[in-house]
Amino acid sequence: MGTYHIKDKHSYTQNYKTSIEDPETFWGTIAKDNFSWKRPWNRVLDWDFSTPKVSWFEGAQLNITENCIDRHLDGNGDKTAILFEPNDPNAASEAISYKELHKRVNKFANILKSKGIQKGDRVCVYLPMIPELAISILACARIGAIHSVVFAGFSATALASRINDCDCKMLITSDGGYRGAKTIDLKSIADEALLECSGIESVLVVKRLHSEIPMVKDRDFWLQPLLEDASELCDAEVMDAEDPLFILYTSGSTGQPKGMVHTTAGYMVYAAYSFKNIFQYEPDDIYWCTADIGWITGHSYIVYGPLLNGATTVMFEGVPSYPDYGRFWSIVEKHKVTQFYTAPTAIRALAKEGLEVVEPYDISSLKIIGTVGEPINEEAWHWYNDHIGKRKCPIVDTWWQTETGGIMISPIPNSFEGKPTFATLPFVGVIPALMDENGIELKGNSVEGRLCIKFPWPSMARTIWGNHQRYKETYFSAYDNMYFTGDGALRDENGHYRITGRVDDVIIVSGHNLGTAPIEDAINEHPAVAESAIVGYPHHIKGSALYGYVTLKNANNSSEALKAEINQLISKQIGPIAKLNKIQFTTGLPKTRSGKIMRRILRKIASKDTSNLGDISTLLNPEVVEMIMENSQ
Ligand code: WT7
Repeated sequence: MGTYHIKDKHSYTQNYKTSIEDPETFWGTIAKDNFSWKRPWNRVLDWDFSTPKVSWFEGAQLNITENCIDRHLDGNGDKTAILFEPNDPNAASEAISYKELHKRVNKFANILKSKGIQKGDRVCVYLPMIPELAISILACARIGAIHSVVFAGFSATALASRINDCDCKMLITSDGGYRGAKTIDLKSIADEALLECSGIESVLVVKRLHSEIPMVKDRDFWLQPLLEDASELCDAEVMDAEDPLFILYTSGSTGQPKGMVHTTAGYMVYAAYSFKNIFQYEPDDIYWCTADIGWITGHSYIVYGPLLNGATTVMFEGVPSYPDYGRFWSIVEKHKVTQFYTAPTAIRALAKEGLEVVEPYDISSLKIIGTVGEPINEEAWHWYNDHIGKRKCPIVDTWWQTETGGIMISPIPNSFEGKPTFATLPFVGVIPALMDENGIELKGNSVEGRLCIKFPWPSMARTIWGNHQRYKETYFSAYDNMYFTGDGALRDENGHYRITGRVDDVIIVSGHNLGTAPIEDAINEHPAVAESAIVGYPHHIKGSALYGYVTLKNANNSSEALKAEINQLISKQIGPIAKLNKIQFTTGLPKTRSGKIMRRILRKIASKDTSNLGDISTLLNPEVVEMIMENSQ
C-alpha cells in the first residue's frame, strides 16, 4: 500500500520500500485513492526496457483536466488556482479561481474544436508567461489534442522545426509579450516561422501588447472575440491512460531536438504525488515556481502538479531584474509565498546583487525553497540557505529531466535533511544505479559513475515523436536494461547522490539544456567559417557559458564584426540563449587520427585548466594545441 502524504522519515522509508518491493500495488493504491477515473485499469505496469516499451495503468480511461479542475469545483471552486503576477509591478495581479479556470478552459477548448482541432491533433503553443499559456494547454488536454509548447525565447527557425517535426495543425501565439523593460514581438517571429510550415491551418492570437500587427486572412484569428461567443461547457474527452498528453522538445548531443512524448495517466499520478511530497504542499499554501511553462519544470510544477492537488500556483510574467533585483522577494512578500522554486543561475545572479535587494522585504512566509536545472555550487547553496531560507526552510535540490517528467532525486522536507550540492535520495519508486565505463554497476557507497535508472516510473517519456529508434539508442542502448540519463553522479558514504554534470555533449547554460551540434551547425553556415567546436566553461552566474573555437576559410577575415555575425546567426537559428560568450578564431582544431575533434582538450583550455592535458602526442595535429593555448581568452 502507499500513503499519499509522506510526512516523516518513517513514512518515506515505508513508502519507498513498498514502491520498490511491490510497485504495482503501491502505484495502484496511490492512483485509485487520489484521482478520478472513468474506467479502471486492467494492469498497473507493463514494461520491457529492451524493446523499449513502458505502459502504466493500461486499459484505464480518464481526462487529466477533470482531475486538475472539475473535481475541485465542489469544495474549492472559489479558491485561487492561478495567481498571475504581471511584468509591470504597478499592474494588478489576477487571481483566477478554479471555477473561473473551468470556464476559461472550456471556452478555449470549444474554440479549438471550432477550428477543426480533434483528439490526437498536435497544437503548438508559443506564448509568453500569461494565463492563456496555462489555459491553452489545459484546453488541448480537455479535448485530447496534444500540446507542444515552444519556449517564447526561441527563434523562428527553431519554432518552425519544432512545428514541422510533429506536424502541428494549429499555432497559438500572441501579438507580443513583456519581458522587463523590453517587449518581444512574437507574432512576427511566428509569421516568419510559418513561411516554412505548410501544415498549420489556423493561428490563434492572444492580445497582450495591443500592438498593430499584420493578420493573415482566414489563417489568423484574434482569440478574444472568439471567446466571447464560445460556450462555457465542454465535455472532457475520454482518454486512454497511454494516450499522449504532450510533446516537449529537448536538445540532444547530436542532431535535431528530440520531441519527448509524455502520456496521460502515469504522468498525472507522478506529477501530483511528487509535487505534494517534495513541496509538502498544504491546502493554504501559495506555491511559486519561477520557471517558464516552455520547459518541463513549468509543465509539471507550475501547471499539472499544483492544479492536480488543488493548489494556488503563482505565474510570473516578468524577469528577476525588473524593475530591480528585488522583484522576486517583493512578489514573495506580496503574495505570502510559502514554497519558492527556482534555478541556480537565478540564485547566483541575485546573490551577486547583495543583500540590499533582499532585506527590504518580508519573506518570512517561506517554508520550503527549491532549486532545479543544473548542479548548484556550494556558495550559491549557502547564500540561498542563509539569506532566503534564513536557515529554517529546507532546500529541495531536485534532480530530474524533460525525459523523466517529474522529480527523481530530491530531499523530502520533514523526512531527511538536504546537504549542500546533493540531490540526496531517490524519490519513491525510483531505483538509481551508477555504472562504470565498462558497463558494470558500481554497488555500495562512496562510488562515482554514470547515472542510470533501473526500473520504470510512471511519468517517464514513452518515446521520441516519430523516432522510437532514436529513443532506444539514446536512452536504452548504453547499458542493458537501464535508462541512461546522460549525467554523472556520485553516491556518498550515506548513499546520498550528488549530480556531477553531463557526461555527453550537452551544455547547461543558465539552466537551459543546449546541444553543441546544432550550435556548431549554425556557425558553420556562415560563408567565412570552415569548422567550429563549442565547449562549456565555468561561469559565475550562468553555471556554464559557451566558448566557440572557429576556424575560418581565410584567416585574414577574423574580426570583431565577424564574431557578432556568428552570434547573430546562432540567435536566428536557435535563440539568444545559445549565443557564445567567447569566440576564438584558430587555424586548426585538435583532432584524433580518425578525425574526431578532441573536445576534452578544448574544454580544459576554455576552463583555464591546462596543467594536465593528458597525452596529446597521438593527435593528428598536436601543434595546434600550443597555438590555441597561446591565443585563448
Ligand atoms: C538536465 C536536464 C528538470 C527540469 C529542468 C532541466 C541537469 C537538472 C539538476 C539538479 C544537477 C541537474 C541534469 C539533467 N539538472 N536538475 N538538481 N542538479 N543537475 O530539464 O532541460 O531536460 O535538463 O539538467 O544535467 O540531465 P532539462
